Amino acid sequence: MSDYFNGRVLLDPKEVPTEWINILPDLPTPMTPLINPMNGKPAPFEMATAIFPTECVVQEVSQEPLIPIPKKLREIYARSYRPTPLQRALGLEKALEVVGDDIQIFYKNESVSPTGSHKPNTALAQAYYAKSDGINELVTETGAGQWGSALSFGSSLFNIKCTVYMVRASFIQKPGRKILMRSYNAEVHASPSRFTESGKSYYNEDPDHPGSLGIAISEAVEHSLTSDKIRYSLGSVLNFVCLHQTIIGQETKIQLRKIGITEPDIIIGCMGGGSNFSGLAIPYARDKVRDVLPNLEIIGVEPRACPSVCKGKYLWDYGDSAKKAPILKMHTLGHNFIPSPIHAGGLRYHGIAPIVSNLYNKGIIKAVMHHQLEVIEAGLLFAKSEGIIPAPETNHAVKEAIDQALLAKENNEKKVIVFNFSGHGYFDLLAYKEYMTGDLENFELSEKKIIASINDADMPKIDESQF
Ligand SMILES: Cc1ncc(COP(=O)(O)O)c(C=O)c1O
Repeated sequence: MSDYFNGRVLLDPKEVPTEWINILPDLPTPMTPLINPMNGKPAPFEMATAIFPTECVVQEVSQEPLIPIPKKLREIYARSYRPTPLQRALGLEKALEVVGDDIQIFYKNESVSPTGSHKPNTALAQAYYAKSDGINELVTETGAGQWGSALSFGSSLFNIKCTVYMVRASFIQKPGRKILMRSYNAEVHASPSRFTESGKSYYNEDPDHPGSLGIAISEAVEHSLTSDKIRYSLGSVLNFVCLHQTIIGQETKIQLRKIGITEPDIIIGCMGGGSNFSGLAIPYARDKVRDVLPNLEIIGVEPRACPSVCKGKYLWDYGDSAKKAPILKMHTLGHNFIPSPIHAGGLRYHGIAPIVSNLYNKGIIKAVMHHQLEVIEAGLLFAKSEGIIPAPETNHAVKEAIDQALLAKENNEKKVIVFNFSGHGYFDLLAYKEYMTGDLENFELSEKKIIASINDADMPKIDESQF
């Protein structure tokens, strides 16, 4: 273990991976298609390309196991922030008293990107492809603001206008994110807004409506369909987004190999729509599917206030509240579900990436959930021992990594634990302040609320015999 410095495994910018890993051809069961919400049939190519950049639609269904990362995009990744460091959490290990090499905790530090999270990995790719299509505006939703910041940054690099519908709960909790997005020239609206038909109905009922990612997606999709020079950008859930994020797991593998670790024991990521988790997990999940790493544990972590995989049902559901975005087969709490306003705004999504659902159904990955207070507590321990304040979303992964390390210690087991440090929390300090002043609460989602939300007569009925 001597060929890396103080626990930090760095790669040369020339080592930015040349390909993304596409797990679709390796999935245990074939991927279900995107469904047109207007007629319940698979969305035709032309319909999908009216919403998303063309190359992204091609990638969404590609059966190529490896998809080349365009050279120009790799150069931009390398110039901006990639490869990101893989860091052994020596300070955290010490705080947990797991000193020695029996239990090793590593984190892949995606917080070093210019906007502070993994989100630019796909934002830059989507802006690159939109520019190639001659698009002049990208529209999106954002929860905590990480995705909106990333797309604003990507759009400004490619000289494309960016409009962001930001969930009102976060718009209020995280004013710094608004300023960051506006610094990149983006237009930012609190959602639900009065600017779209999808937003108006909620806004007129309650101008202080906290919003949800489902409503904000509806607003952004509606906006994107107003011109053929505008496209919608999604920061999670879809196959092509998870694909772009696999650069995280690809680099991690190279970095671990450099220090002699070919078989980590546990891979962890928090899950909102599932993209950062997929990014780290997919290259390893493919090894597990192929029986190369049969014993590897891959764990996705959800908030107890919005546990789509742990408590939701595997169903066809709309991706958004106003039923404008494609229908997906995924674990869902129902498209009308409005999660409690936890600070981990990026985890407040009713569904999950279909790729995650597919892997979960076959037992390739597991899912667990944690409460808001315990994850902030874990984040503070991380901050004290490693120096970086994690994003509230990231704290879910931190908490699980800590639990796994302590469990291994108790059982006298040797474990290499790797988690995705999806973002920093310097725009999320209110969460920490509320924790310190005792104003932060836990939100447990009752079975009654879940059943009411999922049994909604409004759920789409899709005839699977048609494909
Ligand atoms: C820092 C951070 N981590 C995780 C997430 C969750 O998203 P995903 O599951 O797509 O990675 C978000 C979403 O905004 C985020 O900002």
